Amino acid sequence: MGERDLSVVVFGATGVTGRRVAAYLAERAGEAGAAWAAAGRDAAKLERVLGEVGVTAPETIVADVGDPASLAEMASRTRVVLNLVGPYTLYGEPVIEACIANGAHYVDLTGEMPFVRRMIDAFDDRAKAAGIKVIHTSGFEALPADLAILLAAETARERWGEDLDEVDLEVATQAPAGRLGLADVVSGGTLQGTAEVLGAEGAEESSDPALLIDDPEAAAEVRGRSPISLAPRLNGRGDAIAPMTPAAFINPPVVQRTAALLAAEQGDPVRPFRYREGVAISGSPATLPLRYGAAAALGGSQAAFRALSRTRPAVRNRLADVLRRVLPSSGFGPSGDRLGEWTWQVAVDAHTSGGHYVRVAVDAHGHPGYLATARILGEVGLLLAEDGVTPERAGLLTPAAALGTKHLDRFERAGVRFSLSS
Ligand SMILES: NC(=O)c1ccc[n+]([C@@H]2O[C@H](COP(=O)([O-])OP(=O)(O)OC[C@H]3O[C@@H](n4cnc5c(N)ncnc54)[C@H](OP(=O)(O)O)[C@@H]3O)[C@@H](O)[C@H]2O)c1
Repeated sequence: MGERDLSVVVFGATGVTGRRVAAYLAERAGEAGAAWAAAGRDAAKLERVLGEVGVTAPETIVADVGDPASLAEMASRTRVVLNLVGPYTLYGEPVIEACIANGAHYVDLTGEMPFVRRMIDAFDDRAKAAGIKVIHTSGFEALPADLAILLAAETARERWGEDLDEVDLEVATQAPAGRLGLADVVSGGTLQGTAEVLGAEGAEESSDPALLIDDPEAAAEVRGRSPISLAPRLNGRGDAIAPMTPAAFINPPVVQRTAALLAAEQGDPVRPFRYREGVAISGSPATLPLRYGAAAALGGSQAAFRALSRTRPAVRNRLADVLRRVLPSSGFGPSGDRLGEWTWQVAVDAHTSGGHYVRVAVDAHGHPGYLATARILGEVGLLLAEDGVTPERAGLLTPAAALGTKHLDRFERAGVRFSLSS
């Protein structure tokens, strides 16, 4: 990567999430010594939206997914493009193409897993040859889980020379007091992304925990050892455990890909761990039946999505069309000061092949999907823009394979603290 005048570009800075990534960089880039720019397809809208959220971008760039020359121009000026232009199934590929061709690392927030598989097949070799990192799923899904599990795996290796055998991950969230509506929880961009997954080529594979494993034998082992369960359960501490929300199909293939990529790099066979995750719904003992029922309902809706994703393409496509029309679209989503009032935790309990135990905790503040995610992504951009901070790897990487664990403390700037607690 030669000399460039920008470290990080936020593309899609007018979106519900993009404007918050811009806000994070406006605060942080100066002290990190990074030059950044906000990019979007409409200069006037960029100025208006950023003005509304009190952000002054040092520079704005006009680029449109439908105009490859504008993408090439943007990518050739910067070390890192943070891509917030979704749904990625529709808009992601030309941006990746431009980044690889013009020497910029690429990062996005997609949870559209068939798209991720398609991009690995299309671009992994070229990205490796160009020394470029392409990183999907770099928000709440799936960066905290991926990095926390890598920290547990590295700790087990260092302490006992053992691999992880079983990993349990639990998320707990505390929302601000008061009633929450749909717009407080999820954005139109994310909901439209769900419709695109249903309509996408390969939708039937969207719930495969081994979707991102390249080697067919290793993929079969992952499927056998670690299927994705949507059933509600109890954790023995009085919590009902629901499947990961909004989707149980994102973290599992990512964390299994990280383990497979790192095993392949070491020349080791892939020995997949059994991975189980969920969201803890806590409350008083008297409310347990209600909470268990809620966990079952959340699992039921995801099971319905999985069943629909496996129907014939003609049926799925019709459903996707209906969803595109009825679901909220771009611009809908969490807003306002209360985003800062959310807190959340991730706990990873890992057992090794030799019976040892490691626990990694993540403590965070800020709405997981739309504030913490934006700050995390901003910090990822700053890390990638610095020389010698992230591992030398290139290609279509997971967040953990791309970033490593040496600089986890940097995420404290984004309100996310990783710690090894036993
Ligand atoms: N996994 C996670 O943790 C997580 C969390 C948050 C978001 N996400 C994902 O991030 C993506 C963005 O979400 P969001 O809610 O911020 O979406 P959004 O509000 O709809 O923003 C979409 C952005 O894309 C831009 N855009 C659309 N078409 C474009 C084109 N042809 N050229 C250039 N820009 C274009 C829009 O620009 P205009 O304003 O000009 O229309 C806007 O800036 C979604 O795919 C969502 O699923 C994931």
